Amino acid sequence: MLNYLLFTLLLNHVVCQEKRPNFVVILTDDQDAVLGGMDPMKCVRRFIGNEGTTFTNSYVTSPICCPSRASLLTGLHVHNHMTWNNSLQGGCYSRTWKKLETRTFANALKESGYNTFYAGKYLNEYGTHGAGGPEQIPPGWTEWHGLVGNSVYYNYTISNDGVPTHATDLYLTDIIRDLSLNYIENQTELQPFLMMLAPPAPHQPFTPAPRHEGTFSNVTAVRHPNFNLAVTDKHWLITMPPSPLPDTLIPELDRVYRSRWESLLAVDEMVADVVEALDSNSLLSNTYLIYTSDNGYHIGQFSQVYDKRQPYESDIKVPLIMRGPTIPKNTTDNQPILNIDLAPTIMALAGLMPPESMDGRSIKFAMKNDLESTPKSSHPVERLDGNLEMERNMLVEYYGEGRDGTVDENCPWKYDSDNLAQCYPEYECKCQDARNNTFACLRHIAKRINFKYCSFADSKDFSEMYDLASDPYELTNIINQVLPSVKHWYKLILSQMLTCKGYRNCDNPLENPKVYG
Ligand SMILES: *[C@@H]1O[C@H](CO)[C@@H](O)[C@H](O)[C@H]1NC(C)=O
Ligand SMILES: *[C@@H]1O[C@H](CO)[C@@H](O)[C@H](O)[C@H]1NC(C)=O
Ligand SMILES: *[C@@H]1O[C@H](CO)[C@@H](O)[C@H](O)[C@H]1NC(C)=O
Ligand SMILES: *[C@@H]1O[C@H](CO)[C@@H](O)[C@H](O)[C@H]1NC(C)=O
Ligand SMILES: *[C@@H]1O[C@H](CO)[C@@H](O)[C@H](O)[C@H]1NC(C)=O
Ligand SMILES: *[C@@H]1O[C@H](CO)[C@@H](O)[C@H](O)[C@H]1NC(C)=O
Repeated sequence: MLNYLLFTLLLNHVVCQEKRPNFVVILTDDQDAVLGGMDPMKCVRRFIGNEGTTFTNSYVTSPICCPSRASLLTGLHVHNHMTWNNSLQGGCYSRTWKKLETRTFANALKESGYNTFYAGKYLNEYGTHGAGGPEQIPPGWTEWHGLVGNSVYYNYTISNDGVPTHATDLYLTDIIRDLSLNYIENQTELQPFLMMLAPPAPHQPFTPAPRHEGTFSNVTAVRHPNFNLAVTDKHWLITMPPSPLPDTLIPELDRVYRSRWESLLAVDEMVADVVEALDSNSLLSNTYLIYTSDNGYHIGQFSQVYDKRQPYESDIKVPLIMRGPTIPKNTTDNQPILNIDLAPTIMALAGLMPPESMDGRSIKFAMKNDLESTPKSSHPVERLDGNLEMERNMLVEYYGEGRDGTVDENCPWKYDSDNLAQCYPEYECKCQDARNNTFACLRHIAKRINFKYCSFADSKDFSEMYDLASDPYELTNIINQVLPSVKHWYKLILSQMLTCKGYRNCDNPLENPKVYG
């Protein structure tokens, strides 16, 4: 009898899920949210933004590619997936990762009957010799077109279902578009699908498609109040000379800024083509489209050159736009979101129960504004109720890199250069990273709270704190102005967050126990 009951329940479960939605996740590389990174994306804003929700407080667990991507795929914080940096030695596509790789949201969807497709950059070390080569197909994907190594625009190898294929002069974003359009053409309502597209733009070397070269020739880098500002109240690396940057470097910052915009135009076209293909195949109304980036970027902030790896908003805040059958149209939503929330959110929207051991939590969507067209759905999607207090302390971790062969011997630093990275004479030897650029931050957002607290693992035990409500450009470090009790509280929560496990524990580590996966 019990068996019979269970069987009927299972059967019901399957029947309810008959019209499960499709997912298209678009993940760009280094696209910022606060320096105008979304400005050139007319089609993304029109076809996803106007038809969906733009999230204005979306952050990443780490301002660097590989750790951030590992978080997005697993729903785990860096200290739980242990991909510490972009190298194999630092966990990027390492043996540790391969054990976790069976637990990405793609695996969960595939096991529940989804057809799954990936095209573009995956984890930076994927496909390299040391990481096992391009013959490996990561679990979770039925159709696989993973880029070998880090983002480039030409002259790359793609693993086509385990078969390495080299291309020299085919623009990578266009190849990803073509692969995705072929895939969509073959999809029907009979089997739901998950498609993930990870173009290289606007990552270095910021190469636009030839048809877009010069489109923004008159655009210059944004001059927010923190642009090329010399500061003394920030951690050691930021105060390193030259500060401010010499005027001769500014045209280079402008060039980088406009090249990034131009390189993004092919992504914008790809999104328009994908939406059109979904529409002409009658799949659009039952498809969620999610557009985001792996980390932000700075260009000139606080007299830095251009890169990520810093705790400031330019680096940790990312675009996040979603449309789909249950998502309100043409709205913005300011709830605090981390990239680890996407895995559980997608699982929930697919009718699956995210595991308690995931550190991210499912996004609560506002009530849909055109309720009539909302399909009856059985999945456990939580909705925001108007009175919800959205307080959240979001953890951002970064493990500073040193000695990656990029401290040019022509740079004058007398420091122990083993602990420095990315110092190039063409940028006046301004270093971009250091071992002691290792930090953890809490991004604390609530109705009346908009703080950031960061603690550095350096010889000064340096900390920084900003009130983003009154100081959006993080000009004034208020760590010595706040009450000792406030400082103490942040320090305590941060230390707990750094070992948190499972979303309840990571939401409130002082009250909820850890959940091991
Ligand atoms: C393409 O990349 C290979 C290494 O993968 C390099 O040897 C070659 O010079 C590159 N070709 C061009 C045209 O950049
Ligand atoms: C997908 O469609 C192409 C034609 O557009 C066809 O050649 C191919 O066999 C199809 N693949 C599958 C898996 O149905
Ligand atoms: C760029 O600026 C130049 C000089 O100010 C002007 O002549 C040109 O029309 C501008 N081009 C565009 C595309 O706005
Ligand atoms: C979206 O909302 C804005 C105002 O918030 C309005 O001006 C615009 O027309 C709306 N667009 C669509 C497509 O509904
Ligand atoms: C990356 O992380 C690993 C493990 O912590 C460390 O050994 C390595 O030195 C790091 N890489 C760089 C370039 O700092
Ligand atoms: C950071 O590391 C550099 C290079 O090793 C060193 O010179 C500097 O004193 C360190 N600063 C702090 C605050 O730890």
